[in-house]
Amino acid sequence: MGQVTVLVGAQWGDEGKGKVIDILTEEVQYVVRYQGGNNAGHTVVIGDKKYVLHLIPSGILHMDKTCVIGHGVVIDPKALLEEIDLLAPQDIEVEGRLKISDRAHVIFPYHRKIDELREVRKKGRIGTTKKGIGPCYADKVARIGIRMADLYDEKYFKNRLKSIIEEKNTVLKHLYGSDGFSPDAIFEEYRGYAQRLKEYVCDTNFLLSEALKKGESILFEGAQGTFLDVDYGTYPYVTSSSSTAGGACTGGGVGPSRIDRVIGVVKAYTTRVGEGPFPTEFGPELMETIRKKGGEFGSTTGRARRCGWFDSVLVRNSVEINGIDQVAITKIDVLDELDTIKICTGYNYKGKLYSNIPGIPSFLDGCEPVYEEHPGWKCDTSGITSYEDLPENARKYLARIKGLIGTDIILVSVGKSRKQTFIYKS
Ligand code: GDP
Ligand code: IMO
Ligand code: MG
Repeated sequence: MGQVTVLVGAQWGDEGKGKVIDILTEEVQYVVRYQGGNNAGHTVVIGDKKYVLHLIPSGILHMDKTCVIGHGVVIDPKALLEEIDLLAPQDIEVEGRLKISDRAHVIFPYHRKIDELREVRKKGRIGTTKKGIGPCYADKVARIGIRMADLYDEKYFKNRLKSIIEEKNTVLKHLYGSDGFSPDAIFEEYRGYAQRLKEYVCDTNFLLSEALKKGESILFEGAQGTFLDVDYGTYPYVTSSSSTAGGACTGGGVGPSRIDRVIGVVKAYTTRVGEGPFPTEFGPELMETIRKKGGEFGSTTGRARRCGWFDSVLVRNSVEINGIDQVAITKIDVLDELDTIKICTGYNYKGKLYSNIPGIPSFLDGCEPVYEEHPGWKCDTSGITSYEDLPENARKYLARIKGLIGTDIILVSVGKSRKQTFIYKS
């Protein structure tokens, strides 16, 4: 049997998964996305070239690997084709090595529209990417979704689309006072996309189980992060899919007993995009400094990311939820200039100290983080290529994180490029 690795983001997304996936892809034959959609933005920097992948697995930049978009992903075919078309002139040919699940659900313009209209509200806004992700997953669960394979049964597709749009148009008109959509126009538009994507669509579950039997290895690429997971995250400020490791089974096509290891990607501090609680969020001055130094602007929407101190309670929880065996720690270099660096080790809530996240509603909104302070290392780490060369205070910071989160570190990253990465040594 081939080896199966699941890689997840251990915080609120944008931990540097793209970079770590690119490195781990060397060891596998398949890279598989199992949830989310083009709300993701995974950055890979190779030499002086930067690639941002949204739907296509980051492994696509390795020309000898096969990349799979599993059935747990929601696919906006227009966005997918744009991504394919953007890669082609950069000599990244996807033909023959991109596989799309025939069971993946499809995002339609009415999903994007409803997502946008909901986001206009001031109260209860999630701060979504407005890509139609939530409404598409909602339709999937409500059993009024359309899957990739459905696009190829034109009679079925046309009839189903007609009855779904009838319902959507009623909601759009009466609830939002918005224009509706023409089923015929969408049918024609999507028929075109379906034709262009036909060569990629297949039974990816069969493909992956056959690959494993042949001894080939698979890397599952999580999108978003643990605390954006619809079940484990800071609900309702989450995305609509299972971004944690278990999602690889429900959305990727392998059973739990096939998974050999789970790797978490952890940023050396914390960020989040959109609304929702964030106990260790910086005040304005530090926010500005770290955002600028870390380039903390959304890879998908360009929105400024909220930044804060490392929260060990969250990441320890993430280690448990995902069954993380090892973590890769990214963006150590972003902390280079700080005099002191704080780590959150617990929360104070109504006079009681917590070292976990209890199920009290609004706990994370109302708690006060408890910090310990560490001296900074005050030197440039971006050129460092081995663990031994890291300044002592940086090594101490990593060792403390390791102790607090209770798992091993495998990789340390000090910059965007492949070569700014080295193995951790304890
Ligand atoms: P993902 O969604 O988890 O793949 O992360 P993103 O690509 O959205 O955001 C991570 C950003 O940090 C990207 O711009 C990466 O190029 C960059 N990055 C990754 N690792 C490092 C690092 O160690 N240091 C610095 N300075 N930047 C990094
Ligand atoms: P990657 O894979 C960070 C956030 C949005 C919003 C919430 C719901 O690059 O780490 P959605 O459009 O999914 O319904 O929005 O989730 N969000 C992300 N934040 N990184 C991402 O992906 C995200 N994908 C969604 O900002 O708060
Ligand atoms: Mg991202």
